[in-house]
Amino acid sequence: MSGNVEERMNMGRGNPGAEERAAGKANVEGDAGAGVLEAGLPAEPEAYFDSLFEDDPELERVTVSIRERGMPDISVAPGYGRLLTLLVAATRARSLLEIGALAGYSGICLARGLPPGEGRLTSLELKPDYAELASANLAAAGFADRAEMIVGDAVSSLERLEREGRRFDFFFIDADKENYPVYLEYAIRLANPGAIVAADNTLLRGRTLNPEKQGPAVRAMRDFNRAMARDPRLLAAHLPSYDGLALAMVK
Ligand code: SAH
Ligand code: DHB
Ligand code: MG
Repeated sequence: MSGNVEERMNMGRGNPGAEERAAGKANVEGDAGAGVLEAGLPAEPEAYFDSLFEDDPELERVTVSIRERGMPDISVAPGYGRLLTLLVAATRARSLLEIGALAGYSGICLARGLPPGEGRLTSLELKPDYAELASANLAAAGFADRAEMIVGDAVSSLERLEREGRRFDFFFIDADKENYPVYLEYAIRLANPGAIVAADNTLLRGRTLNPEKQGPAVRAMRDFNRAMARDPRLLAAHLPSYDGLALAMVK
């Protein structure tokens, strides 16, 4: 996991002050500021669209809890969080599996797509302190009774879920990048027919496209991206906004 928080903050996520920018307030002092066009609109497409949405105090609280603890600020981008909510709702998914919980930002986005009082989110998280915070944040968002956290290495947890015969309608892959191909195989095995697989960070902040980058995470991500595109069991699409998101339906 990289500690490159500064870079992440400039990728159109978090987006503090978006409304001010959209309202042109950043221009009042005659200083457009970085990433803001003359008209007072954000210069980046992601920041522009993010600025159109109402503040989200519940998710903002998660982001604050991350900063307070000095954790890496690597929750899913806000636009993709909204897409997760939309996809869960649109596909009427009931059993959700998240691989990599951090502080519960994406977990809340996923759970928000469930019908009121129904369905369940299972989150796999390696670090006990992260898992505890994610559980607390999910509880604060009203999902205490429908969120299950499994602490430990995700591959072991997936093995256990398979042994137990668990099946899911929706997968969000967002943990260690080296294991994305493994997580995809498990997702396909644990999928109910028509299940959706979403995966974050398919561009690895440009490293995926840089031929000089040949480390294990980059190579695994290239394998994963190709598998999503070519696996005959999947119907897939790659979205290049933010840090890249892959989507597939398990046929
Ligand atoms: N999905 C979260 C962000 C996840 S960041 C959100 O958008 O809100 C990646 C997370 O994966 C971190 O919390 C990290 O601790 C966890 N992780 C890393 N390796 C893991 C592993 N082998 N098993 C389970 N979780 C892992
Ligand atoms: C980073 C971002 C992520 O969304 C993630 O899951 C892991 C790492 C990063 O920018 O380093
Ligand atoms: Mg991610």
